[in-house]
Formats: sequence, C-alpha cells, structure tokens
Amino acid sequence: MGRTPRPDLSNLETYFEAGLGHDHEADELLGRQDYPRLYRSQLARLHRVRPIQADQRLWTVEAIAEAEAAVDPSAAQRLAAGAAPKAKRNTKRNSPMTMLTKLHEIYRSAGLQPLTGHSTKHMHDWADAPFTRFYNGEGIVGCAGLSLFEIMFVEHLGTYIDPRSVLVIGNAHGWSTLALALTFPKAKILALDPDQVGVELTNELARKNKLSVEAVVGTSPDSVKPACAEHLNSAVDFVLIDAIHTNDALKTDFFASAEVASKDAFYLFHDVINWKMVDGFKSMQAASGLGGRILTRTPSGMAVLHGEISSELAQYLDCFSDNPQLLMAYRTMVQQAFAGDVFGEALAAL
Ligand SMILES: C[S@@+](CC[C@H](N)C(=O)[O-])C[C@H]1O[C@@H](n2cnc3c(N)ncnc32)[C@H](O)[C@@H]1O
Repeated sequence: MGRTPRPDLSNLETYFEAGLGHDHEADELLGRQDYPRLYRSQLARLHRVRPIQADQRLWTVEAIAEAEAAVDPSAAQRLAAGAAPKAKRNTKRNSPMTMLTKLHEIYRSAGLQPLTGHSTKHMHDWADAPFTRFYNGEGIVGCAGLSLFEIMFVEHLGTYIDPRSVLVIGNAHGWSTLALALTFPKAKILALDPDQVGVELTNELARKNKLSVEAVVGTSPDSVKPACAEHLNSAVDFVLIDAIHTNDALKTDFFASAEVASKDAFYLFHDVINWKMVDGFKSMQAASGLGGRILTRTPSGMAVLHGEISSELAQYLDCFSDNPQLLMAYRTMVQQAFAGDVFGEALAAL
C-alpha cells in the first residue's frame, strides 16, 4: 500500500520537444555516453525561450542553475554562494499588471466578481453573454457593460491616443469608466449616469485606487455641458457613449458631447449593431463630417468617429472592422455552408 512508484511525468512534452531537436539520422542517441548531457543542453535551449520548471529527472534545480549561469554570471555567483537556485517563473520580473488585470482586481477586491466575455453558445444562446455584469456574493448586478474583448480593444487605444479629458455617458457600475481611467492615466474622466448607486460605487473604487475619475449623477443631454464645465479642465477629447440605445438618443448624446469636445476628439459608441443603431451612426457621421467606422469585429458592434488620426491608429481600427461587401458575402457563405445544414438532415429524412 502506498509503495507503488510514482513516475515524475512533469515536463514530458518538453522532453519530447527536446528530443525532436536532435538529428537522429546523423547521430544515434543511445550510442552516446553523454546522452543525459545532450538532452540537458537541448532543455537549456528551450528554457532560454520559455522557462521550464524543475523536475526530478534531468531538469533538476541544479541543471537549471547551471544553464542560467552559462548566460548570467550573477546566477553563477548565487550558485557558488550556495543560494537555492530557482526556476524562473514564466513572467517578466517586475512586469506591471495590465489594465485588464488591474480592472479585475479593483472589482474583485470590492467583492464584485466580473462576469464577462462568455460565448453566447456557452450560455444557452443568451445574446448578452459577452457583456459585463458582476456577482456580488448573492446575485448578479450591473447593466451589460463593455465585454472583455471590447475592454481589451480599449486597452490598446492607449498606445495610439493620449486624451486629457474623457467623458462617459452611461456609467452603470463604472466598468468602462475605470477601464478608461487605467488606459489613459493622464486624463481626467467624467462619467454621467442617473443611477446613484453606480455613481457612488465608481467614485469609491476610483478613490481607493487613486484614479482620476469623477462620476456624477446626471443625464445626457442636459447635464453634459454643466458637468464638463465643473469637472474638466480642457475640451473633451475622448467620449464613450453607452446610455440609451435608440437611434435618436445616440444622436442626442453625440451632439451634446460634440458641443464640449475638441475637433479632434475620438468618439466610441457601444452596441451600435446589436441595438440596431447603424442608421443613427451613419447620419451622425454624415452630419459631423468626421471619419469613422463600425467595428464589426467587436461583440456589440461598436463604432468610432474621429477627426484626424495617425496611420497606426487607422491600421489598428482596420483590425476590428470589415469591408461591408466582403462581410455580407462571408455571411451568405456561412449561412449556406452551416446554417443551411442545421435542419438539412432532418428534412432529408422526411
Ligand atoms: C449599458 S449601461 C452602461 C454600461 C457601462 N458603459 C459599462 O461599460 O459598464 C447604460 C447606462 O446608461 C445609463 N443612462 C440611461 N440614460 C442615460 C442618460 N440620459 N444619460 C446618462 N446615462 C444614462 C443607465 O442608467 C445605465 O447605467
């Protein structure tokens, strides 16, 4: 009982990979005296690309220390001084948390577990599965905030633009407001929403995490101008519109924010496709003369309007949008190839 030897199977795939790195045609492994050494050198090569945890066979902590000492003399000194050699973790040392991890941490530490990014297909075909709500230990709270994927889209906007005054119309529990504050750390973020509970929560989380955010109880369009005058120091240069999802409300929110925005402001609209607001978007674009597009590759079908932008940002936006004709043709192909088959078998059996 309990004496059955337990083989150490860790790193098995890596050993296999190391074995593949050897030219078996040219060199018969089993005939070599230094077979373990040869294997270790292949493992060391892989370790330099992707650190491998120690195991009980060839890739021991000593083998790791030796491999690391070969490229890092300080590791050799630590080894000579008898310091316990450590396998490198598969992360950069001192690597900062990403916006996404910070955002999750902010909500989790407040007792709100984000529920986001799920596939509709994994959630009983529920159309809202990708969007963000929170589990508070008792039930689900919140109001379909930006999906995980859309938050990741926002995170990388921080590479291309550097706004100073951000306006959010439709704050809910602050998920996208705080995401914007983390993405644009030099900006002041003003968020409007009639819901007092969400506004208080957002301000509390912002304060605890030293984020430059002011959430205010108010509604677009009436509160936009006075709130911006009171809380922002410069013309708005980034706007997120995610409040009432009708064509008319979308236009009202856009024109109210355009009055307080700079000419090069960047506007992001949530839910344009999912809430059938494409017409409203097109008429805003025509009336404003701004550049823009619908981000057909985002879960809600977000859209953007903007003044002049860098070619790099234009390329980034290209990654999230399609040529409309190609998209339509693709949909038709998909429908013929897959959707048509759903009942094909049953009908063929009639
Ligand atoms: C879909 S939720 C916003 C989600 C949020 N952007 C996020 O990512 O978590 C819509 C919000 O708009 C708010 N709202 C409704 N009418 C509004 C108005 N006229 N002005 C500002 N906010 C409004 C609602 O109270 C609700 O919280």
